[in-house]
Amino acid sequence: MGLGVVLGFLGLVLVLGGGGFVGFAFGSGGFEECSKLMMVWWLKIDFSGGVGQLGLISWVDDGGSVSWNFEEIDWKKFSAIATYTAAITVIGWSTTTGFPVTESVDRKRRNMMILRLEGKVALITGAASGIGEEAVRLFAENGALVVAADVQDELGHQVVASIISTTNGNNVCYHHCDVRDEKQVEETVNFTLKKHGKLDILFSNAGIIGPLTSILELDITGLDNTMATNVRGVAATIKHAARAMVAKNVRGSIICTTSVASSLGGTGPHAYTASKHALVGLVRSACSELGAHGIRVNCVSPFGVATPLSCTAYNLQPNEVEANSCAVSNLKGIVLKARHIAEAALFLASDESAYISGHNLAVDGGFTVVNNSFSAT
Ligand SMILES: NC(=O)c1ccc[n+]([C@@H]2O[C@H](COP(=O)([O-])OP(=O)(O)OC[C@H]3O[C@@H](n4cnc5c(N)ncnc54)[C@H](O)[C@@H]3O)[C@@H](O)[C@H]2O)c1
Repeated sequence: MGLGVVLGFLGLVLVLGGGGFVGFAFGSGGFEECSKLMMVWWLKIDFSGGVGQLGLISWVDDGGSVSWNFEEIDWKKFSAIATYTAAITVIGWSTTTGFPVTESVDRKRRNMMILRLEGKVALITGAASGIGEEAVRLFAENGALVVAADVQDELGHQVVASIISTTNGNNVCYHHCDVRDEKQVEETVNFTLKKHGKLDILFSNAGIIGPLTSILELDITGLDNTMATNVRGVAATIKHAARAMVAKNVRGSIICTTSVASSLGGTGPHAYTASKHALVGLVRSACSELGAHGIRVNCVSPFGVATPLSCTAYNLQPNEVEANSCAVSNLKGIVLKARHIAEAALFLASDESAYISGHNLAVDGGFTVVNNSFSAT
């Protein structure tokens, strides 16, 4: 229980103990956590004496100074008291943080959150759905100016509109970009530069799963399309984003989405597995050149997540995809969500990973480094 709750309760007891009919008490939550302003106030009306009292104690966290504001008001002026009371309620409500009853844990966390990408400009591909959509939300929540790019324009606009409506900000916008077309990639990077003046972060996340056929029946055209999206498309984004970073002398961060299929055979379709292995090679290669410019290049490598990609490919509901993933997962008691992948991308995008480059960060609960078919215990 926060200190404000205790004091608020104490105020109520004091007022009730004072003999009159009353009031009200209000306290902010967790003084230690919120480190802002705490208030206890009350309204006391003594019917017999015909007077009212309005008390207010506020405590500002500036080293523990306490300021008092206390008033006695004629009962006849009750309407004035009521107005005053309402005004103080509004002020108290808006200036205190962490109100224990009504404020959600999420709001509390947001109030306390450090903006890990403040002032950074991010371009995210595959941003209309799944992992990319989560990343757009998370990067924006962390203070980034985000350009969300995808081929699903309607969905992309919806994602952006929903973020803008909840943040009241204008920090996210949508831009059409098919990563298979280098001209569109170049134009999207130029759009970002024109709009925000620089590019700090590329999250090259767009990808497709490609054909699910046996190697004996391999659909070569499907393989070409998978490579065109998952490798050539990502290469084009790295090329143009890195050019923009180098030109502006930005020590940027580039993150690409691979998969457990980038480290293990048998965990995805053939073309997909080939494309994600190739992507790790591309990232390492780009890392070797871009390090000279202070640009980091990494991957996030997810285990199975319920997104439109996995649900559509296997014709399963999200809960069925999650059940299948959980059945073969190494780390038990947790369901992998797109948000977990976005969190890993956020880490790689932020300065917290300042010396990490060339890494394929597995977000797989250890799946790719254990083999449970043989048990030594
Ligand atoms: N879902 C999983 O289980 C899983 C596991 C490992 C890796 N991944 C990888 O995560 C990334 C995101 O996938 P997701 O699961 O969020 O799927 P998703 O289908 O929800 O999102 C992928 C997005 O990429 C977009 N896209 C596809 N082709 C594009 C193109 N040519 N140009 C621009 N955008 C394009 C799609 O429109 C879609 O919005 C992919 O690279 C995928 O390979 C997913």
